[in-house]
Amino acid sequence: MLLNKKLIGLATGILCSLSAVAHAEPIEIKFSHVVAENTPKGKMAIKFKELVAEKLPGKVTVSVFPNSQLFGDNKVLEAMQLGDVQMAAPSLSKFKKYTKKLQIFDLPFLFEDMASVERFQKGAVGIRLLRSMERKGLIGLGYLHNGMKQLSASAPLRVPSDAKGKKFRIMSSDVLAAQFQAVDAMPVKKPFSEVFTLLQTKAIDGQENTWSNIYSKKFFEVQEYITESNHGVLDYMVVTSKSFWDSLPKALRTEVKSALDEAIAYGNDIAAKKAEQDKQLIIDSKRSQIINISPEQRQQWVNAMKPVWKRFERKIGKDYLEAAVSSNQ
Ligand code: SIN
Repeated sequence: MLLNKKLIGLATGILCSLSAVAHAEPIEIKFSHVVAENTPKGKMAIKFKELVAEKLPGKVTVSVFPNSQLFGDNKVLEAMQLGDVQMAAPSLSKFKKYTKKLQIFDLPFLFEDMASVERFQKGAVGIRLLRSMERKGLIGLGYLHNGMKQLSASAPLRVPSDAKGKKFRIMSSDVLAAQFQAVDAMPVKKPFSEVFTLLQTKAIDGQENTWSNIYSKKFFEVQEYITESNHGVLDYMVVTSKSFWDSLPKALRTEVKSALDEAIAYGNDIAAKKAEQDKQLIIDSKRSQIINISPEQRQQWVNAMKPVWKRFERKIGKDYLEAAVSSNQ
């Protein structure tokens, strides 16, 4: 009799826990970013959400918050560590508080093109950099491309002296500040969400960004000139908090990572196409004049800005710099 009661109790317990598992809430990944949905990052995040829904139904859901809806530049990484958001892909220029090493990506005229950036990110140093913030509680899950940066302004910029005395919005990076100081301009660190208004109200004269950001955020409507300078790269690191990542069961972590890798490959493909498409849309709009500088003019910008490398060499690491230079085959 007693044995029967025990067996019934045990069976009830097992059924209860099975039904709890069956009805367990899926794990929610909030993915926060600052750009429009029609950008490489915006599209990558949506693709990730779709892939997770397809591969892990009922187990994991992804909610995407674009356009700084949930957190802007300055808050997202703190929010991640507090568990208020699980994934983000800030520009590589926005990790200064967590590591100085990623400043390498901001050095002007370091990478010749996106193929060089890709080679560097896929190489030993690029892979090591994904782990450079682990002690601060952040894990890099992969790089995502946006593209090469261009300079936009309310006056034509052909040679470095054209930038003298002008105010340029920059991301929160000391290398970018030094880059504009090198041409006697005034860098102003501001979040992405404020750039359009700053340009529209003429509180600043210019900014640097990729074709897709200039197009999707309509900067070209409030900037008369865009110099095709390709002077630096704007790429992203998809990050999560170590505590969130470690809390995922191993099998789920593998599945989430594989969905993310697929979404990143998709986003990178879009980045390559969008750079050209959005540049053409800007040209077609006739709102902004594109300035093509001559090789001699470009060399003047290189000569003015390249000394910035030396200033940051110690913090970044000479070996890292050499690896980046050699990625320009
Ligand atoms: C982004 O592409 O995520 C924003 C870049 C910027 O702040 O200029």
